[in-house]
Amino acid sequence: MAMGGSLWHRVVDGEEAKRAIEAGNAAEHLPPDRIDIEQMVITQRYDLYSDEDHEVWSILFKKRMAQLERDASNVFLNGLRVINLREDRVPDLREVNANLRPMTGWQSRGVPGYLPAKCFFAFLAQRHFPTTLSVRPKTSMDYLPEPDIIHDVFGHVPLHADPVFADFLQTYGKAALHTNDPYHTERLARLFWFTVEFGLIREDGRLKLYGSGLISSEGEGHHSLQSPDVDRRPFEMERVCNTTFEIDHYQPILYVLEDFQQLRDAMETYANRLLNEPAGKVAAGAR
Ligand SMILES: [Fe+2]
Repeated sequence: MAMGGSLWHRVVDGEEAKRAIEAGNAAEHLPPDRIDIEQMVITQRYDLYSDEDHEVWSILFKKRMAQLERDASNVFLNGLRVINLREDRVPDLREVNANLRPMTGWQSRGVPGYLPAKCFFAFLAQRHFPTTLSVRPKTSMDYLPEPDIIHDVFGHVPLHADPVFADFLQTYGKAALHTNDPYHTERLARLFWFTVEFGLIREDGRLKLYGSGLISSEGEGHHSLQSPDVDRRPFEMERVCNTTFEIDHYQPILYVLEDFQQLRDAMETYANRLLNEPAGKVAAGAR
């Protein structure tokens, strides 16, 4: 996701990027139906990626696949095949989208990096995934506090090829865009964290990875499956939304899905409740 800071990189340093950032900041407080995501999108100037960028992508891709072929969700691995990411170079979003769009209607769209939360949700609500275009430097290959194209495309986009996950993420975006109640905003942020970013799923009788933070991190990927210090709980919407999380260290609590239908159905129920309330108000009993 691209809600955090942004990493300087020549592919996001230009007039178009400046205008996109300004459009995002200006749109932050607009009503949802007036947020125009197209103004926040930038072109992926593919020719500006350096040999080092392609090399960093390639090293990390190969390194992660060694674990993921065994430990990642089949849904993730299928998606990876569908969008046809190559191991030797940074993905070209036009090629990714040509494969992705016919599957679910989702598209990966270039953004300069930072997006206000409401704008991020407006993208999701329209089946567009705001995608950071920069590549981390070779000197910080193993840890990067902000998203880059490796986190965003390798870590997130493969799941968007799955029709069930695709529905879930759009419904999530609509609900998060609609509510102005800080109580629900916080709960939805926790839901995103414990599923999209750090979710586990049960497949073939064992635990597998699907959250992008686990997919894109070798250390945390292993820790999440093997460490005795992790409390792995069955997914339950209310409990997830009530669980606080901490950043900057390995997650001590993770939630395990039985399948993605479970997530989609729980999100539908939550969204129906929120979307039927006037924006900014919470019906009595909703808590
Ligand atoms: Fe993310």
